[in-house]
Amino acid sequence: MKIAVVGTGYVGLVTGTCLSEIGHVVTCIDIDQMKVNKMRDGISPIYEPGLDELMKKNIRENRLFFTTNHHDGFGGADVIYIAVGTPENKDGSANLSYVEQVAKDIATHIKRDVVVVTKSTVPVGTNDWIKEVIQNHLVHNVKVDIVSNPEFLREGAAIFDSFNGDRIVIGADNEAAANVLYEINKPFGISIFKTDIRSAEMIKYAANAFLATKISFINEISNICEKVDANVEDVANGMGQDSRIGSLFLNAGIGYGGSCFPKDTKALIQIAGNVEYDFDLLKGVVRVNQKQQEILLSKMEDRFDNFKDKKIAILGLAFKPNTDDMREAASIVIIKQLIEKGANVFAYDPVAMGNAKKILDSKVNYTPSTFEALKDADAALILTEWNEFKDLNLSEFEKYMKFPVIFDGRNCFDLKIVKNYNVEYHSMGRKSIK
Ligand code: UGA
Repeated sequence: MKIAVVGTGYVGLVTGTCLSEIGHVVTCIDIDQMKVNKMRDGISPIYEPGLDELMKKNIRENRLFFTTNHHDGFGGADVIYIAVGTPENKDGSANLSYVEQVAKDIATHIKRDVVVVTKSTVPVGTNDWIKEVIQNHLVHNVKVDIVSNPEFLREGAAIFDSFNGDRIVIGADNEAAANVLYEINKPFGISIFKTDIRSAEMIKYAANAFLATKISFINEISNICEKVDANVEDVANGMGQDSRIGSLFLNAGIGYGGSCFPKDTKALIQIAGNVEYDFDLLKGVVRVNQKQQEILLSKMEDRFDNFKDKKIAILGLAFKPNTDDMREAASIVIIKQLIEKGANVFAYDPVAMGNAKKILDSKVNYTPSTFEALKDADAALILTEWNEFKDLNLSEFEKYMKFPVIFDGRNCFDLKIVKNYNVEYHSMGRKSIK
């Protein structure tokens, strides 16, 4: 099967590379020549564990190609995947301008029947619209089928998820197109669920909205636990053992970030609003998350009179570990406020500092290691649960900080262990140790 993938962001590049790994010949198309040149050498423009190696292997074995030329990319393709971004508009809706451009490009370049697959997360009904755009701009008399094939990959674990996901969803309006996708995906060995196009589009939003709901729910439970002297980890554990609830995605923290949950929850509220349905529950989830991103600041305000000229060490900037992605990270909100309040911020992240520099206030100081961030700091904030931080010996905080006051937004340390050290430790939904 010859496949073209348009867009080489997280979704497109991982999808294209993994499809080549299972034996398909894949050409990835991107408009950025510099990026394409790098990818041809097997260098991924994003940090994703295992991706570079897999790209290099499949480039070497002549199954994975990169081009800026739509004509080359689409020429001879049996299947074209759309994997361009759908960023958030000001009103929370999904911006479909990149998708529209790709649909037009497909229409002008294809010379044979193709199946167009939408990987990008798009509002319900978009695939019908994509089909219309393509039909309206077709240059040659060919047949185009549309299939919705949403992705469920987690950044930082995307390669693992591609080969070990829970399900592959295929939404099509005819059996033949669904079967093409079925055959493409069969080698992954993952259970395949076939449905209609609109249900497939809805599954993606509903799944992300539900996961976001789980997180906001446990975060509210965590806030209550703090007030009633309960331990949110034990509560989550006890709840999660009920198989109807499930134990995953019940880690309390400083809210969800990233390119998906914040955008998709708001888009689903919009989608519902467009059909005059008030998705009140999901609005609450979004509100709770916004408050949760700032919760460490209120804990700090309870502890310190002010932050003026205080040295604050920030450990972790990325929205979660194993990624360099800063999109919607809680660190953005927290650091902005600390700087407004006069704090001197010293930040360290194992991989996200490059991206952080592009968006955070220029007053932020970046350090080459955890220890330099901690040196003489008045407080340390743990914002991302990188293993590098979880593996720290708490004596390092004692050794380097003026007085070791730690605000752990990700519950990286076991309270029983913390008690053995001379540190002041505030975490999420658990008793503070002073
Ligand atoms: C999420 C979904 O997990 C994927 O299934 C989906 O494909 C993807 O969005 C997408 O729509 O493309 P991702 O955003 O990469 O993946 O990251 P997650 O691992 O889901 O984490 C999202 C956020 O939730 C992170 O900020 C994380 O710290 C937070 N989180 C997660 C918690 O606060 N608690 C938890 O228990 C789990």
